Amino acid sequence: MKGPPMENKTALVIDKVDKSFSVKTGKKSEVGLLQVLRAISMSVMEGEIIGLLGPSGCGKSTLLNIVAGFEQPDKGEVLFQGEPVVIPAPERSVLFQSAVLFPWFTVKENIVYGLRNRRENQGIIEKKYCQYVQLVGLKGFDNYYPNQLSGGMQQRAALARALIMEPRMLLMDEPFAALDAQTRMLMQQLLLGISEQIKPTILFITHDIEEALILSDRILVMSKLPGKIIYEVTVPFSRPRDLSMIGSYGFAKMKDEIRQYLFDQLL
Ligand SMILES: Nc1ncnc2c1ncn2[C@@H]1O[C@H](COP(=O)(O)OP(=O)(O)O)[C@@H](O)[C@H]1O
Ligand SMILES: [Mg+2]
Repeated sequence: MKGPPMENKTALVIDKVDKSFSVKTGKKSEVGLLQVLRAISMSVMEGEIIGLLGPSGCGKSTLLNIVAGFEQPDKGEVLFQGEPVVIPAPERSVLFQSAVLFPWFTVKENIVYGLRNRRENQGIIEKKYCQYVQLVGLKGFDNYYPNQLSGGMQQRAALARALIMEPRMLLMDEPFAALDAQTRMLMQQLLLGISEQIKPTILFITHDIEEALILSDRILVMSKLPGKIIYEVTVPFSRPRDLSMIGSYGFAKMKDEIRQYLFDQLL
């Protein structure tokens, strides 16, 4: 049985990151600073899957956007493979809650978009397309347009479009939150299967404790604003994961413990 990530190299370092936004405070046009992140630090190993939980509005997306390079921290730094993150790059691929597909492109055109953009050779494009469309289970839907797909299938296409670029890290911001419960379960299983095959490093935001436990090697819980990391736990379930673990005592115990930390933040 394969254990947790084999590689022992650090992929991502977040070091004492602070972030504030200017916001309108009230009447007139007064502007104040809203501190969203405070002294966030973490280190993510290559191939590791980190689940990030926290109450709504605590800064999870802000943190992910900083790692993606969409936002800059006010203080502290973010290093990816030892280099400071300054701009977005395909090596740190982002997946959002709703699949952002081009509506005028077919599934295939959407998935190969990045490779075409990179002027990759046609033979390589076809080979990789076959590989990744199969990986996400969308074979046969090549010529469908996004509006002809279910939400889950759209998310599969978005996932293939990200994976085909062979990113070194996937940043996933509640990617399954908009899906119905059954589809969400299927997507979790799909992601588990993919993580066995290609072992990507993943930062996975979710508000669903169970989802975090199913997918992650390690879970970090953030406080309410300003977001700090208040709890960290290593998920002990072996890989490949088996969804039957959901019924186990250990799973329920961890879920309850995390729920306590989250609940305290809602008060
Ligand atoms: N660009 C922005 N300008 C001002 N405030 C923002 C901006 N982005 C996020 N915020 C605020 O920062 C806080 C954290 O937001 P966010 O990171 O989206 O939280 P989460 O993803 O945990 O729900 C919220 O109060 C939100 O309103
Ligand atoms: Mg968010």
